[in-house]
Amino acid sequence: MIFVRTTSVEGTRSVAAALAELARPGDLLLLAGDLGAGKTAFTQGFGAALGVDDLITSPTFTLVNTYEGRLELNHLDVYRLEALGEVLDLGVPEMMDDGGVTVIEWGDAVAPALPADYLEIRFTFPDTDPEGDDVRLLELVPVGPRWSARLRAIATAVSEWIHEPEGED
Ligand SMILES: Nc1ncnc2c1ncn2[C@@H]1O[C@H](COP(=O)(O)OP(=O)(O)OP(=O)(O)O)[C@@H](O)[C@H]1O
Ligand SMILES: [Mg+2]
Repeated sequence: MIFVRTTSVEGTRSVAAALAELARPGDLLLLAGDLGAGKTAFTQGFGAALGVDDLITSPTFTLVNTYEGRLELNHLDVYRLEALGEVLDLGVPEMMDDGGVTVIEWGDAVAPALPADYLEIRFTFPDTDPEGDDVRLLELVPVGPRWSARLRAIATAVSEWIHEPEGED
C-alpha cells in the first residue's frame, strides 16, 4: 500500500487527478473514511481529470450520478444504504461493464457485494499535525489484479505526496 498526505482540498483533488491518468475502462475505486474526510473532493479532482465539465456533487440522495468525460464516471455514495442487498440492486458490475470508471463513497462497507478487484482509498484525519485541520492522510490499497499490477505506476503518479507514517513499527 501507499500512503499519501495532503494539506489542502486542492491537494486531495490533485492526487485524485494524478490517479485518474491511470484509470481504465471498468475500473472501480472504493473511498473509505469519515464524514468530511474528502471523498467527494477526491471524486471532483478525479472527474475533472477525466474531462468531466459538470459540477460533481455528492450523490447521497440519488445514489448514482453518471458524468460524461474521456471515460464515463459513475459516482455513488452508499452511506444511506441499509443492506448489502441494496447495493446488488444498484447493478454495479453492469455499470462497470459499460466502459466507465466507478467511484463509490463509503464503498468499503459494501465491498463484499462487489467484484474483489478495486483500489481502496482510506481517508483519515491525523491526530495532530502542525499544519492544522486541512491535513488528510490517504492510504491507497490495491485489492485484486487490476490495480495491483499498477502499484508502481501509482507510486510514481503520487510521488509528490508520498508520506511514510511514523511510529508504526
Ligand atoms: N486536505 C483536504 N482534502 C480534502 N478535503 C479537505 C482538505 N482540507 C480541508 N478539506 C475540506 O474538507 C471537506 C471535505 O468534504 P467532502 O465532502 O469531500 O468529504 P466527504 O468525505 O465526501 O464527506 P461525506 O462522508 O459527508 O460525503 C471540504 O469542506 C474540504 O474543503
Ligand atoms: Mg461525500
